[in-house]
Amino acid sequence: MRKPDSRSLLDWYDRHRRDLPWRARAGATTDPYAVWLSEIMLQQTTVQAVKSYYLKFLTLWPTVDALASAPLDDVMKAWAGLGYYSRARNLHACAGVVAREHGGRFPPDEAELLLLPGVGPYTAAAIAAIAFGRRAVVVDGNVERVAARLFAISQTMPQAKAAIRAAVDAFTPKNRAGDFAQGMMDLGATICTPRNPACGLCPFMPACAAHASGEMERYPVRTPKEKRPQRAGAAFFLERSDGAVLVRTRPPRGLLGGMTEVPGTPWSGDFDLAKAADAAPVKANWRLLPGGVDHIFTHFALRLSVFAAKARVGSKAPAGMRWATHDDLADEAFPTVMRKVIAHAQNRAEF
Ligand code: ADE
Repeated sequence: MRKPDSRSLLDWYDRHRRDLPWRARAGATTDPYAVWLSEIMLQQTTVQAVKSYYLKFLTLWPTVDALASAPLDDVMKAWAGLGYYSRARNLHACAGVVAREHGGRFPPDEAELLLLPGVGPYTAAAIAAIAFGRRAVVVDGNVERVAARLFAISQTMPQAKAAIRAAVDAFTPKNRAGDFAQGMMDLGATICTPRNPACGLCPFMPACAAHASGEMERYPVRTPKEKRPQRAGAAFFLERSDGAVLVRTRPPRGLLGGMTEVPGTPWSGDFDLAKAADAAPVKANWRLLPGGVDHIFTHFALRLSVFAAKARVGSKAPAGMRWATHDDLADEAFPTVMRKVIAHAQNRAEF
C-alpha cells in the first residue's frame, strides 16, 4: 500500500474545496478575526447552521474591536439558537482580551492563542494554520475519522486520540498547513463520512488501511454509547393580553447560562407532573397544554410539559422576572428549547 502524502490531499482540496463564507479565495489571505469567529461557531455545530450566524456577526461587528465594545447582552441575543452558550460569553471575553491586550490583533503563535478565553488546542491550531499559515496540527472530529481510517488505528476512543494526533502530525506539511487542515475537514465531511464513505472519490484510497481491510466504518473504534438519560420538567407560559410574556434570565454559569427562559421547574430524572402546578410563578388559571416539548441536549434528553395562562395588562412580574413585550420576543436571547416552548404555547390558542 502507498504511504499517504499531503500532496494528494492538497490537490484534491484545490479542486473540490467547499465554498464557505469564511474561506479566502485560493491564494488570498484571511482575516484572523473572521477565522477565529468561524472556528468558535463551528465547535460542535454544523457548517449549515453556522453560515447565517457568521454573516450576521460580521455585519453587526466587522472587527474584533467592535465586538469587544458591544454589550454582552447583545452578543448573547445574536448567538441565541446556536447552542453551547458559554461560547458566546467566551467569544465576548476573548474579543476584549485581543482588543485591550493585543492592540486588536490576534497573536499568530499557537501557544499565545491558547491563552485566550474559549480557545482550546483545536481552535488555537486551526487559527495558527488557517489565518497565519503556521504549521500546526489541527484535529477535530472529521480529521479524527479520516486519520483513524487511513492508518487503521485500532485503539478505542478516546484513548486513540494520542495515536491519531501523532499520525496527523507525521503527515501535516510545512507549507499550506491551513489548506491541509481544511482539506482533511472537507474530506471527512463530504467523502470519509461516518456511514457509507465514498471511497471511490477519495484521494487517499490507495493509501488507506481501513479501505484495504474493507472495514471502513469500524474506525474510529468506539465503545457502544450509553443511552442519553431522560429528564423532565414543566414550563409556565404566562401571556398578558397585550402579548407580553413572563420571562427570566438563567444564572450566568452552567447550562444555557445567561439565556432567557419562561419560568419553570428544575429539569430532573424524577419530575412529578402531578405536583408541577405548585411551582407556578403566579396564581392563575393554569392549563396543562396537550403534548409537550422535546429537546436533545448533549448529556440528556428533555421533555417539558407546558402550562399556559393569561394575565391582565397591569399584572406585575414577580421578583427576578420581567415581561418581554410582544415586539421584543423575537429579539430575546431564547435558546432553541425555549423557542419551542413558546411556539408550542402560541400554537395552542385555546388555553
Ligand atoms: N469545521 C471547523 N472548521 C472548519 C473549516 N475551517 N472548514 C470546514 N469545516 C470546518
